[in-house]
Amino acid sequence: MANIKFFSGKTTPIEMHRVRIIQKLNLLSIDERLEAVKRAGNNTFLLRNDDVFLDMLTDSGTNAMSNDQLASMSQADDSYAGSATFYRLEKALRHVFGMEYFLPAHQGRACEHILARVFIKKGQVIPMNYHFTTAKAQITEIGGGQILEIPVKEAFDIDSTCPFKGNLDTDALKQAIAKYGKDGIGFVRMEAGTNLIGGQPFALQNIQEVSKICRSHGIPLVHDISLLSDNLYFCKQREAACKNMTIHEIAKAMAEASDVLYFSGRKLGSARGGGICTNNRQYYMMMRELVPLFEGFLTYGGMSVREMEALAVGMYETLDEDVISQGPQFIEFMVGELLKLKVPVVTPAGGLGCHLDARGFLSHLKPTEYPAGSLASAMYLVSGIRGMERGTLSEQRNEDGSEPIAQMELLRLALPRRVFTMSQILYAVDRINWLYQNRHLVGGLKWIDEPRILRFFFGTLEPIGDWQQKLVAKFKADFGDSL
Ligand code: F0G
Repeated sequence: MANIKFFSGKTTPIEMHRVRIIQKLNLLSIDERLEAVKRAGNNTFLLRNDDVFLDMLTDSGTNAMSNDQLASMSQADDSYAGSATFYRLEKALRHVFGMEYFLPAHQGRACEHILARVFIKKGQVIPMNYHFTTAKAQITEIGGGQILEIPVKEAFDIDSTCPFKGNLDTDALKQAIAKYGKDGIGFVRMEAGTNLIGGQPFALQNIQEVSKICRSHGIPLVHDISLLSDNLYFCKQREAACKNMTIHEIAKAMAEASDVLYFSGRKLGSARGGGICTNNRQYYMMMRELVPLFEGFLTYGGMSVREMEALAVGMYETLDEDVISQGPQFIEFMVGELLKLKVPVVTPAGGLGCHLDARGFLSHLKPTEYPAGSLASAMYLVSGIRGMERGTLSEQRNEDGSEPIAQMELLRLALPRRVFTMSQILYAVDRINWLYQNRHLVGGLKWIDEPRILRFFFGTLEPIGDWQQKLVAKFKADFGDSL
């Protein structure tokens, strides 16, 4: 973001864009919110957006698009085969990453599905810096593989100062290769802007080291670049070796270190869709067969051509530091305000969103009472803000039915890029502060209906006891007739 100093000396991030299309918002009364959260089974995925004030569930498909992206949509070529739109997107990806081959897919998990079928043999291990829910589900359910998480130890320190908590522990990778052998490993997966540990980046140097190890053993390095824009910004800000590199040079160096790139176009490129890029013709041919089978013809892969046009423009815009800095800078501001109020929050501030530490916030709850799920429910109740549980609820039960307690218990408040204004961030901080002051009122949750796979999407829960009524009563006592 441009270097703009305030006379007051304050460090306030300033938008390098203006708002030209808006969506009207609705803030229900707290009684209506209580009804809505009950209807949704205390699962924020099941809330209707009309009942939500600030939708901080995710940045997936919800980033604001630029005027150039919107304008590009009108030139979409909807030919079934050989669409000019496809060639524009392919050209953009070749330009940004310098990779020859591109396979379109309808979204990120569709790429993970293809990768799981092509690269994993039953029983193989997939070492990675950290899992993402859909990647893990595809690797285990479709590929029959096992994930092996080997991040650096700082990854799980809530209040760390480590600038690259998303780094993979290269010694642990060498040990894994010694233990399982090349044939026991399907691929190594690096996730940019590591989602589930708080949108934390890895260093360019780290992926380059991982790449060297993988290449010396002939193991493919698969790089999930869905959250690359944040990671690029952090490399430029925090990594000495990247200080004098352009964003484009960092992006190309990251691609050069990888054998396969894949992305959710709902995040990277601020549109909707996905795709896989590689320079390896053999990998390309193996994956290509699956695109018409599961996605669509090779020149659209299940995406709308309008979205593909927007994605192409979005890829070029990812190279603009003004564009990619907006998210991380607003998140840093929000995290900074919460730290002043002593609210437990993941540091350093990452990308994607602000992550509240539910274990610290609701330290009186047992892990099996789902602190992050309870915090998500309470947060909606007191503010109309919808966040996403990223903790034990987002895990899957072990085969014996026991509950794997997540390493981190977070409430993610996503800041979709260029969507929220500063006063909306200040509102969020205010309500979080109130909730923190009244945290002793918040109780746990228990299941009503628990699906076996990806249970957090559709599962329904209920509060243990009447803590929600008590919270509502205290809110009314403090706020009177304020929404
Ligand atoms: N990889 C990462 C790092 C992601 O964050 C996501 C999605 C995917 C893959 C899957 O992509 O949704 O297009 O199929 N993350 C969303 C989120 C769902 O809310 O964080 P998809």
